[in-house]
Amino acid sequence: MDDKTLFSRALEARTQAYAPYSHFTVGAALLCTDGTVYTGCNIENAAFSPTVCAERVAFFKAVSEGRREFAAIAIAGAQEGAAPDSPCAPCGVCRQVMAEFCRADTFRLLLGTAPENIRVYTLAQLLPLAFSGEML
Ligand code: THU
Repeated sequence: MDDKTLFSRALEARTQAYAPYSHFTVGAALLCTDGTVYTGCNIENAAFSPTVCAERVAFFKAVSEGRREFAAIAIAGAQEGAAPDSPCAPCGVCRQVMAEFCRADTFRLLLGTAPENIRVYTLAQLLPLAFSGEML
């Protein structure tokens, strides 16, 4: 799947976001190396801390269905009801989850506002000096 299509899937997933507290809605589309795509949206909670980001929803859906090899993730976020006007960067917790399953030098993160306006980063760029299982 090309980058533009993957970003479109993130925009589509964003429409399912449940964000009654922050009113900031996020969608993510995770591309597995076998070509399958898992999407996610943020799901908030009145107790706040149970809130889960769109990226982790996508990862946990994929891992729970047996996927372990990932190529890229597209992320789109903005105020509820508005189109993205700036890239939505993944939070640190989500970057750490990505580091658990993805190769830092090859896993690609597509951040942007629209399919025609995407910047691509590697996980190594967004999470340098990551803590990993190799250190345990
Ligand atoms: N959020 C995400 O889903 N992904 C991100 O990359 C940044 C933040 C969510 C969490 C929360 O529901 C809302 O956006 C505001 O932080």
